[in-house]
Amino acid sequence: MLTLGIETSCDETALALVKDGKLLHSVMATQIDIHALFGGVVPELASREHYRLIGRLYDELLQQAGITAGDIDVVAVSRGPGLLGSLLVGLGFAKGLVAAGRARLVGVNHLHAHLLAPGLEEELEFPAAGLLVSGGHTHVYRICGPDDFTLLGRTLDDAAGEAFDKVAKMLNMPYPGGRFIDQLGRMAEPDSKLFTRPYIDNDNLDFSFSGLKTAVSLYIQKNPQLVLASQDMAPRLFDGSMDVSGLAHLCASFNHTVAETLRIKVERGIDQMQGRGESVRSLIVAGGVAANSRVREAMKAVAQRFGIRLSLPSLFLCTDNGAMVAYAGELLAQKGLSHGLDLDAIPRGQKIPDDYLRMDLNR
Ligand code: KG4
Ligand code: ZN
Repeated sequence: MLTLGIETSCDETALALVKDGKLLHSVMATQIDIHALFGGVVPELASREHYRLIGRLYDELLQQAGITAGDIDVVAVSRGPGLLGSLLVGLGFAKGLVAAGRARLVGVNHLHAHLLAPGLEEELEFPAAGLLVSGGHTHVYRICGPDDFTLLGRTLDDAAGEAFDKVAKMLNMPYPGGRFIDQLGRMAEPDSKLFTRPYIDNDNLDFSFSGLKTAVSLYIQKNPQLVLASQDMAPRLFDGSMDVSGLAHLCASFNHTVAETLRIKVERGIDQMQGRGESVRSLIVAGGVAANSRVREAMKAVAQRFGIRLSLPSLFLCTDNGAMVAYAGELLAQKGLSHGLDLDAIPRGQKIPDDYLRMDLNR
């Protein structure tokens, strides 16, 4: 089964071809430079860029793979959550391909695609506990299969990635700044007392990062020398030409506090599942913040504590990409699930309906 995946939910236009669980080819254009000028994603610009680029990326992908449109069996597309205008570009393109050819259409939940992504590199073991940590979401799930996700906890305010990006913004680092905080944090030992782990004194699996963000903001107000004089200085942070020890100390401590908070809630989630008699065979961690070195270490510790497998995608599969969409689409299509041309895009904040067309695979 040859599946084309289309991802346009935010600021990455990404397409990929997956065949029988293996990534064949992928193409991607990132809009980071455009949005960095504004310090965050500008939805109108994002959809225009997707529209400008999607056709040429598609041609490039087919050329790389040496195939024609008629070879594609499934067109999988991110249907949400995301920016509505951006999603519509991907959906429109996918529907055009499906209407003109023989391929089946599968609308993919972008968040589920993130969590299924490690399946491109290793076999996933279900039932699994899932942690999705991205720029827009911090979700804890119980996952029993590609179409069987139960949401157990979520952020009440900022997502983990949003907290990273806002702290980076306070320090005058370019958007999205999570990777700078990570890289700087690796250059110092964390002070575990500097920031309180937010919203852990309860028994739920929800998160709240806004208090931590305020604590960092107060710390920066007291230490204004930490703020970069100009965003152009960001590349110099790592070439040895600046004293970054104060920044590294702050970033290491912030990274540590976020990672520890995630660890506590994920451990609690697994404890609660096991307490209900539900088996948990693995922990899957995905989304842009899963690229963070301290988060990766913390999740290794969780898996070790419970003696379960940790599925953590390679860095290129953590952030938005077309491969994860193609792979999730392939898994759903293999289960006989698809969508008609009336497939809707679902913006952030709205529930994604279970509206698959179901093919009877036993007939
Ligand atoms: O999953 P993703 O690519 O896009 C969304 O669907 O949101 O995640 C992007 C987020 C951004 O907030 C970015 O700063 C963060 O992931 N991020 C990181 C790292 N790499 C990306 N945060 C912390 N450490 C990193 N190494
Ligand atoms: Zn994403």
